[in-house]
Amino acid sequence: MRGWVERQLGEEVLNIIPTEFGSGATSIVQTQKGRYIAKVGERQDFLDLYEKVLPFLESSGLKQSHIIARSNRLVLYEWITGDTCKVFSEVQTKQAIKYIKKYFEALRSFPINDVKLERQNAWDDAQSLEFLLDKLPDTGIFSVSPSIAEATARLSRMRDLITTLPKQLIHGDLGADNFLMRGNMVTSIIDFTPQIAPEMYGLCQFLYWNVLRQEESAASLHTWAKVYSEVMNEEIFDCCMLQATLYRVVGPLLNGVTTVHKRVHLLEVLLESSI
Ligand SMILES: Nc1ncnc2c1ncn2[C@@H]1O[C@H](COP(=O)(O)OP(=O)(O)O)[C@@H](O)[C@H]1O
Ligand SMILES: [Mg+2]
Repeated sequence: MRGWVERQLGEEVLNIIPTEFGSGATSIVQTQKGRYIAKVGERQDFLDLYEKVLPFLESSGLKQSHIIARSNRLVLYEWITGDTCKVFSEVQTKQAIKYIKKYFEALRSFPINDVKLERQNAWDDAQSLEFLLDKLPDTGIFSVSPSIAEATARLSRMRDLITTLPKQLIHGDLGADNFLMRGNMVTSIIDFTPQIAPEMYGLCQFLYWNVLRQEESAASLHTWAKVYSEVMNEEIFDCCMLQATLYRVVGPLLNGVTTVHKRVHLLEVLLESSI
């Protein structure tokens, strides 16, 4: 990596350090002039789309990390100053929700006909409602927990409602460590993970990581959803929340990861709540 980065930057790399948070494929690159972020193995279709999406986000005043250089294997990003946390405080959660509202609003203006996302792996299957409802029963995954079949059956009953929701480009991986913060304020969202889905589903991805997973309770989900939008259709919200949680169970299972106890537990929590 060092040689490639030095050729791209035209300067000597002093240090390459793995980041504290993230997948393990991300490093901080230190040079005399400053810092950069280097990532290995990012999806080319995500990067192509990210480059097209940048002006849409930036014209709404949302700071984004630019791509400085990329190859088939490596990407070098601009460094953005900010802190990363594993878990948000309540105030940070509120600010992050307000920020993603603006972020999704900006993404809404991006024409989804121009989005070319290839089906590359089982995560792509798991995020498709059609796959969850029509193909999941044949995968044998129902045997992992009855809650998976129950969630699928509930979503099936709501199929018409969910499929008529308008879709847009969203960021589908909104855990706290994909936000850069300054105190309680968000400076940027990173790790662009595009999906085409209803806006509410994007919010639910955020609430899955930052509320349901942290609290292991569904009690405050509606209250947080109202921070996003006062006028919230609870039935639609409940469907999206269920789909977002099912996605996090089915994704790993389809990829052969069987340590999904906590994720299954969260699905049970959601099914047992009034949601
Ligand atoms: N542009 C950036 N500027 C500053 N820090 C960053 C930037 N991009 C990533 N990071 C840091 O690196 C961590 C991992 O990066 P991320 O893009 O989320 O990759 P991963 O795919 O490994 O999750 C982030 O949680 C953040 O702390
Ligand atoms: Mg990340």
